[in-house]
Amino acid sequence: MIRSKKIRWGIIGLGNIAHQFAQDLALVEDAVLTAVASRNLEKAEIFSNSNNCTKFYGSYDAIFKDDSVDIIYIATPHDSHAELTIKALQNNKHVLCEKPLALNYKDALQMIEASKQNNKFFMEAFWTRFNPSLQEALHKIKNGEIGEVKYINADFAFALENLEGNRMTDLKLGGGTLMDIGVYPLFLVYLILGIPIEVAAKANFHNSGADLQTAIILQYDNAQALLHSSFMSSSNMRATISGTKGRINLNSKWFKAQSYTLVVNDKKSKHKLPTKGKGYTYEIDECHKCINEGKVESSLWSHQNSLDLIKIVDEVKNQIGLEFPSDKG
Ligand SMILES: NC(=O)c1ccc[n+]([C@@H]2O[C@H](COP(=O)([O-])OP(=O)(O)OC[C@H]3O[C@@H](n4cnc5c(N)ncnc54)[C@H](OP(=O)(O)O)[C@@H]3O)[C@@H](O)[C@H]2O)c1
Repeated sequence: MIRSKKIRWGIIGLGNIAHQFAQDLALVEDAVLTAVASRNLEKAEIFSNSNNCTKFYGSYDAIFKDDSVDIIYIATPHDSHAELTIKALQNNKHVLCEKPLALNYKDALQMIEASKQNNKFFMEAFWTRFNPSLQEALHKIKNGEIGEVKYINADFAFALENLEGNRMTDLKLGGGTLMDIGVYPLFLVYLILGIPIEVAAKANFHNSGADLQTAIILQYDNAQALLHSSFMSSSNMRATISGTKGRINLNSKWFKAQSYTLVVNDKKSKHKLPTKGKGYTYEIDECHKCINEGKVESSLWSHQNSLDLIKIVDEVKNQIGLEFPSDKG
């Protein structure tokens, strides 16, 4: 069989992020959008037509059977990530699954086991990991330019207009700030400081049981982090990493930073690193690299990294008393 050199993508769940991702996918030279799947055929056809895609399906199961798809991007609500990822892997597809990987550690572990058993590439779509500003900042931190990191402050907050009938506040779908946006500050601190020795967290809740804002302290032997996520009010969404010799600000909005500011000895320097497209192009490149090298995981955002992060998330859930219906099963 002659195989095209391009990596052939399929997308499941044609909502907000799927649209943004498809636009960035079109910017990646060796990527092609081959098929899309929605629960609604007409929606799939419209998405397909507007994104230069050749095939569309009115069920998720149909795309798993399509041999012309190499990798599936899962862009559905959180509660379905585990089931859809495992099905895709069992059907011989590589998978890029939106964050958070799953609603709990147990489900995330099963997803990773499915990747290993089926020898298929699998990564959580933590696109910020590949953001050029963050990459360069990490390099500077590693080189000791700001000394020893002692404190990190990061948040992700905006006032959500429609709290009712929204997947983001629907407990069954894994709604709430922690899972949707709180995972970003946790991710940043984990990347720089690793697993905390202690977690303290408090939240305010919607009547659905989903958290509407959560404040978190991560305690390390010799460092601390103060984090916040909210659907109730906005913030400037800047992240600050403070060290003994200086600090780095990932400029707003830090999780998709277009620049960072380095402050050493009161001298400020701004470093501009605009992203290609919205910034999803870099995680797509990483998927291609790993698939072409026959790897089942990325070394930059590995299976273990995802497991560590969900373990921290589980501890925050425990602290604030957040439980999803499927956690009980
Ligand atoms: N990386 C990022 O920057 C980023 C940004 C936003 C969101 N996300 C993540 O991406 C995922 C999707 O978020 P989104 O904002 O795109 O959500 P969204 O706009 O609500 O879209 C989700 C899609 O999932 C499908 N779906 C399947 N079961 C569903 C259900 N029971 N209720 C609602 N939709 C259902 C629907 O597609 P069909 O109708 O086509 O089946 C829907 O359009 C989440 O995991 C979120 O955390 C990531």
